[in-house]
Amino acid sequence: MKWWQKTIAYELYPKSFLDTEGQGTGTIRGITQKLDYLESLGIGAVWLTPVCRSPMVDNGYDIADYTDIDPSYGTMEDMKELIAKAKEKNIRIVMDLVFNHTSDQNPWFLESKMSKNNPKSSWYIWRDAKEDGSAPTNWRSIFGGSAWTWCEERQQYYLHTFASQQPDLNWADEDVRKALYQAANFWVDLGAGGFRIDAITYIRKPDEFKDGVPDADDGMISVHDMTANTPGILEYLYEFKREVSEGHDIFTVAEANGVSADELKYWVGEHGAFDMLFEFSHVNLEFKGVETWCRPDPWTISDLKRALRNSQNATKANGWYPAFFENHDKPRCIDHYFPECSDPSSAAKAMGTLLMTLRGTPFLYQGQELGYRNVAWPSIDCYNDISSIGQYQFALSEGLTEEEAMKCVHTFSRDSARTPMQWDDTENAGFSSGTPWLPIHDDYKEVNVEKESRDPDSVLSWYRTLAEIRQEHSALISGDWTEFMKDDPDIIAYKRKNDEEELYILINLSEKQRTFSTESVTAEHVILNNKDTYEKGSLSPLQCVILAEKL
Ligand code: NOJ
Repeated sequence: MKWWQKTIAYELYPKSFLDTEGQGTGTIRGITQKLDYLESLGIGAVWLTPVCRSPMVDNGYDIADYTDIDPSYGTMEDMKELIAKAKEKNIRIVMDLVFNHTSDQNPWFLESKMSKNNPKSSWYIWRDAKEDGSAPTNWRSIFGGSAWTWCEERQQYYLHTFASQQPDLNWADEDVRKALYQAANFWVDLGAGGFRIDAITYIRKPDEFKDGVPDADDGMISVHDMTANTPGILEYLYEFKREVSEGHDIFTVAEANGVSADELKYWVGEHGAFDMLFEFSHVNLEFKGVETWCRPDPWTISDLKRALRNSQNATKANGWYPAFFENHDKPRCIDHYFPECSDPSSAAKAMGTLLMTLRGTPFLYQGQELGYRNVAWPSIDCYNDISSIGQYQFALSEGLTEEEAMKCVHTFSRDSARTPMQWDDTENAGFSSGTPWLPIHDDYKEVNVEKESRDPDSVLSWYRTLAEIRQEHSALISGDWTEFMKDDPDIIAYKRKNDEEELYILINLSEKQRTFSTESVTAEHVILNNKDTYEKGSLSPLQCVILAEKL
């Protein structure tokens, strides 16, 4: 097995991790300072969300220079130091490649927009206006509003899948691809342990740009439905593999929603383009298609089980699963999966157990290990996240009241995942001596690293124990995954088995006391239990256990 299949990955949101400068935003030196902390969680790979030079319209997902560090984070020297110090602890630093688009302040775009015949004129997606002067198509960007913005200098529109400050690159231009591979290789040479590749499904545009049937009252259709996973995309992905990842001891994980099980073999695994692929069916249970916060569908635990079953089975044959329940774009998992939860600590532990015992590499998200919760700030003006603002406005345009629109924001805002790390119970939770860029969650006196480290029953201690158990029980890493009690509406149950041992994992994802037939559960030794006792054939609300045949 490869190193990255055996380890635990940590997604780190640098802006909110630790500020060493009193500026209110995190720094790279802050990460270096806390490597011991990451080590204590058994982490072997740290994925940093983008730290390259950026105007931060989308918190770094709008890159102005792919081979420079944003000054708010520090310097290239700081980055080299982080990579080196992390390596001493067997931790590899994983970079975020944002290759579908750049910032509108990137010199490439500044040049491209100047005229129709400059050397970079075809580096972005430019189109003439329709005869009436309106946008070339009726596509809505992911963050809301038209996906096209008019450029005075060039007298043309440019396409942006996300915000207008994030113009899409034209991957059909060979020079663009070369420039991007060069940037990626800069980081390989610097010692990066891998890449998370942003929004990759959008890089190939259709040959013809056509209006789509509107999906809302604004007369537009989501750009996602018109451009995601366009045939021909694989050629680019294989080229990326040849030019960047192949032959290096690194891993690649692509953000690629909507790749079907049949196509998976082309995307991941030995013959696929990447090592792993983040797909979102289990975190988007309420969104069958495009993620529209004001139109959530109801879902059940059986839906969650089905989504996990499908991806576990799909990755049995192809590639490797990157397990996650939180990231910087999603609500906190306690609130997401258990909105009315009366026992958040058990819920956090149950989800942690699921994360760490599925077959695959767990991706733990900053703060999840402390049991972080969503925020619910009173007005949209309190929010920083560009997508929250877009979704709020869209909800109003669909006829929701302000109060209803705010409820959507409280449920789904990306800011809930971005509030600063809570290191201790001092001012600003030990995150910064300045004014934090986003308010600290008001639970920080209870939920913080220092306090939870002292409490053997805390969520943090639970995660540390889970990390140890993964080391002690190789079946959790290399074992098969076989589900049982498939039809149970509340309990997810599976075995992990390799040549050495067989473990049973039982997790009651409901807040009900549950009994079950013990016929299929032959193991009796309790390795881990988030409640005081375990009675054979019964699980209390949100109880999870790991059982072994022998100790
Ligand atoms: C996906 C990233 O995870 C998200 O944070 C970002 O806003 C978009 N891609 C655009 O880069």
